Amino acid sequence: MSSLLALQKNELPQVESQIRNFIHTHTVNEQLKESMLYSVDAGGKRLRPLLVLATVNALGQKSTSQTYQIAAALEMIHTYSLIHDDLPAMDNDDLRRGRATNHIIFGDALAILAGDALLTGAFELITETELTAQKKNRLLQLLSHSAGANGMVAGQVWDIQSEQEDLTFAELANLHQKKTGALIRFAVVSGGILTDQEEQVLSKLDDFAAHLGLAFQIRDDLLDELATTEQMGKKTQKDNAAGKNTYPTLLGIEKAKSALTTEITQARKVLNDISFTAFKPVFLEEIIKLFEL
Ligand code: IPE
Ligand code: IPE
Ligand code: MG
Ligand code: MG
Ligand code: MG
Repeated sequence: MSSLLALQKNELPQVESQIRNFIHTHTVNEQLKESMLYSVDAGGKRLRPLLVLATVNALGQKSTSQTYQIAAALEMIHTYSLIHDDLPAMDNDDLRRGRATNHIIFGDALAILAGDALLTGAFELITETELTAQKKNRLLQLLSHSAGANGMVAGQVWDIQSEQEDLTFAELANLHQKKTGALIRFAVVSGGILTDQEEQVLSKLDDFAAHLGLAFQIRDDLLDELATTEQMGKKTQKDNAAGKNTYPTLLGIEKAKSALTTEITQARKVLNDISFTAFKPVFLEEIIKLFEL
C-alpha cells in the first residue's frame, strides 16, 4: 500500500467522524441533518483534509484531534460550496460525487440551508477546539478570508458573471486562484499554523499551495472536456455549453495541458526550496503526482 493510501485509510476516517459528530450534536432539525449528511457522506476525494494532514506530517509532527477538526471544518466549507455550486441558479447540476445533487433530493430551499449550516458550522467547530485562543483566532481569520468575499465566494461570483464573456488569460488565472486556490492554500497553510511554523515557512507553503490550487482547477477544467460522467461522478462536457471561461476554452486542450504541467512543476520547485532538516514532504509529493493527467 502506498504511504498516501495508508494516510487516507488511517487518518481520513477521523476527519470524517469529526464532521459527522458535529452535525449530529449541533443540528436540531432532522431534515436539515439528513440533507447535510447526504452530501458529506457522498464521499469525494477529501483532497483538502488530506493536504492539511500531509502538511502537518511533512513538518515532522503527528496529527492530533485539533488537526482533524481543522481539516473537518475545511471539508464542511468545501462541501457547502459544492451544494451551492450545483443549484439551478448557479451551475444547475444534477449529479455530484456519484449521487443526485442535494437540491434534487431535498429541494432548493433545504439545499441552500444545508450549505448555510455547513458553512457556519465550520466556524463553530473551530471555536470548540482546544487550540490556544491565538491560534484559533488566526485560523478563523484565515479561513473566513479564504472562503469569503475576497476568496472562494469572489471567484464563484466572477465565474458566474463572466459566462458568455471572454476573460483574458491573467483574469482567468486570478478567477481560478480565488474560486479554487483560496481553500487549497488554507489547507496547506493551516498545517503550518497548527505546527507553529515561522512566517517565512508559512509564506513558502502558501506559494506552493497557490500553484497546486491553480493546477487543480486547470485539471478540473480539462477533465470536464476529457473525462466521462462515470469517471467523475458529476456531469462532464458542461463548461463549454454554459459559456464558462476555462483553460481549455481559452487556450485549447494542448496548451491547457501544458499550463497544468507548468503549475505542477512550479509547485514541486517551491516545495524543494523548503529545505530545513525536519521537512519531509513524502505525502505532499504523492499528492502532487495525483494532479498529473
Ligand atoms: C470540485 O472539487 C470543485 C472544484 C474546486 C474543482 P473536488 O474535485 O475536490 O470535489 P470532491 O470533494 O472530490 O467531490
Ligand atoms: C467550482 O468550480 C468551484 C467551487 C468553489 C465549488 P466548478 O463549478 O468547475 O466545480 P465542478 O466542476 O462543478 O465540480
Ligand atoms: Mg461552478
Ligand atoms: Mg460546477
Ligand atoms: Mg468544473
